[in-house]
Amino acid sequence: MANNDNVWGMNGGVNNRCEMQLRSIAKGIKSQNPLILEIGCWTGRSTVALATARKDARIVSVDWFKGSPGTAQKPYASSHDVFNIWRGNLRKRNITNVCLMYMSSFDACSLMKNHMFDMIFIDGDHRYSHVKSDIVMWKSRVKKGGIICGHDYEKHSTECPEWMMKETDRDFLPSESLHPGVIRAVSELFPKDDIIQIPGKVWLVTL
Ligand SMILES: C[S@@+](CC[C@H](N)C(=O)[O-])C[C@H]1O[C@@H](n2cnc3c(N)ncnc32)[C@H](O)[C@@H]1O
Repeated sequence: MANNDNVWGMNGGVNNRCEMQLRSIAKGIKSQNPLILEIGCWTGRSTVALATARKDARIVSVDWFKGSPGTAQKPYASSHDVFNIWRGNLRKRNITNVCLMYMSSFDACSLMKNHMFDMIFIDGDHRYSHVKSDIVMWKSRVKKGGIICGHDYEKHSTECPEWMMKETDRDFLPSESLHPGVIRAVSELFPKDDIIQIPGKVWLVTL
């Protein structure tokens, strides 16, 4: 099956490079039958990457399929059934190891009080306060030695000019091609030396 950037619907999320990185992170999980969570699956590209990289895993995908405020996904989601696109993309590939929580990240976290994950991938709302609350909420649900990671982290905040860290209520800064909210939240919440920045705009911390 073709696996290029244009089969995932308009305003897709992860690109080829990130998809490759996600696969390799999932493949690197040592335990058998790992439990993996993703926040933000949109039309399913990251879901498919995780589910096919680790057929022995159970993947929990969380999305409200409304898009993220302030992004082009929002109007797209008002005129398209994004959930059905996501479901179709999984069905086409006979993927059966995914459980969907069609709700907000907050509601999913409240419902999943007793689950501990080997890997959590955060790719939901990219504005600072939302990335921060996703990381803070979900971090305690990662097993010891497990991985928390996410998308759209281009560099550490110490490498950004001060004015940029005042623009963190925006999803994306087109003039700089950066996601200031993700950069600020990740940089604030983890010691710099613990953050691994993987080409493909993926950040990763082992807990
Ligand atoms: C950048 S996209 C995810 C892209 C996806 N990982 C991919 O591979 O295409 C962000 C997604 O997060 C979802 N989202 C944003 N805020 C959310 C929230 N508070 N709760 C649940 N889903 C949310 C949006 O509906 C959207 O599908």
